[in-house]
Amino acid sequence: MKENQSRSSFSGKLGYVLAVAGSAVGLGNIWRFPYLAAKYGGGIFLLVYLILMVTFGYALIVSETALGRMTKRSPVGAFRAFGKSAPFRIGGWINAVIPMLIVPYYSVIGGWVSKYLFEYLRGSTAALAEDSYFPNFISDGFSAEFWFLLFCLMVVAVLFGGVKQGVERVSKVMMPLLVLLAIFVAGYSMTRPGAWEGVKYFLIPNLENFSWMTVVAAMGQMFYSLSIAMGILYTYGSYIKKDVDIEKSTMQVEIFDTAIAMLAGLMIIPAVFAFSGGNPETLNAGPSLMFITIPKVFASMGFGTGAGIMFFLLVLLAAVTSAISLAESGVSTFEDQLGWSRSKATLLMGGVIIVIGSASALGFGVLDFVSVLGMTVLDFFDFLTNSLMMPVAALATCLLITRVAGLDKIAKEVEQSSDFKRKKMYFFFMKYLAPVCIAIILLSSIANVFGWITM
Ligand code: PFF
Repeated sequence: MKENQSRSSFSGKLGYVLAVAGSAVGLGNIWRFPYLAAKYGGGIFLLVYLILMVTFGYALIVSETALGRMTKRSPVGAFRAFGKSAPFRIGGWINAVIPMLIVPYYSVIGGWVSKYLFEYLRGSTAALAEDSYFPNFISDGFSAEFWFLLFCLMVVAVLFGGVKQGVERVSKVMMPLLVLLAIFVAGYSMTRPGAWEGVKYFLIPNLENFSWMTVVAAMGQMFYSLSIAMGILYTYGSYIKKDVDIEKSTMQVEIFDTAIAMLAGLMIIPAVFAFSGGNPETLNAGPSLMFITIPKVFASMGFGTGAGIMFFLLVLLAAVTSAISLAESGVSTFEDQLGWSRSKATLLMGGVIIVIGSASALGFGVLDFVSVLGMTVLDFFDFLTNSLMMPVAALATCLLITRVAGLDKIAKEVEQSSDFKRKKMYFFFMKYLAPVCIAIILLSSIANVFGWITM
């Protein structure tokens, strides 16, 4: 096992917060959040999301970060620090394996985003707006694979640089740029004729739009968006010094992540209203909202090519920083568990990304005959990680803290550099709220597989 002293670390508090924010703000915020908000009730979805984030989400981020900092290990080592039997091994490995399975398919979507940016730069605005463009592109094996590999190359190059040189430096430049771009594109979108109805739909809660699925979707999205239950926060926590205020930095990251998600909502939902008058079919477009509906919106507006370039540049920045954090978590596990050097661990991670990612990228084309549980390879990995493994990983963290480590020990770790004002609330969330929320997600996902409910 590697010596603690030689472990990579962040240079300071700002570097850490930006790197965690870089991990949290990703395709989840810009691609996933707006389509879920559009589909599951607009303002009421936003309200439920916000409540869950400051309660359940807050408790899990604090827990994972504190465990990482306390043990100075990524998840496998962190669990092992408390015991050697099977449940500890399973709890650690499930947290560690999730990001390794996510980053390949995430990079495939990152490749699609790179392709769209390239096409906007070439001025193909009208072609991108055609219905057949997206399906044709993803089913053309060579093209999707090429853009996927290019995206991987960017990610692996940063990882070779290490934490301070790579992850932190990239986040410090990219995150402020991303905020500026987001404000600009949202401002542009909200001032289109007819867009105001979309702003109201997104911001004003309407109880009539509430359903059980609003809660389930908001909860899943919260995990996804905040990079919870995927080893990342353990890993990043293990890189920070004892003077980082965990409570404060968690709040900063949550505010940042939510601000970007809301800006993304304000970019996309008003644009959809301006374009279609809020017709339900467009609002329910789901995952293709960003690749099919939005290009149509851009093509129908003045300055569409410029808006397209800015928008996809923004998405690309967000996707790269998140992919880096997902892969970083894997690299750190290989370093710790196999005792490998950083470059060797990075190469292995690169290999895993290429194998699983290529299967996902080609799953819409030459490999389209492959279907797992009726899903394409990409959808299967998305479902496996987000709907099944992440709730189990979060449950493992909750049990480790409440049954083994003890809530007091976590509180002590946090209190080393923080007043921990919300300690009582934190205890309550961990003991009662978190297990209930996790059970709801897991049961809903299983019910979804069997077709008892549709998500
Ligand atoms: N939190 C990031 C995002 O919202 O895009 C990174 C991420 C988390 C990606 C979870 C994928 C995932 F399943």
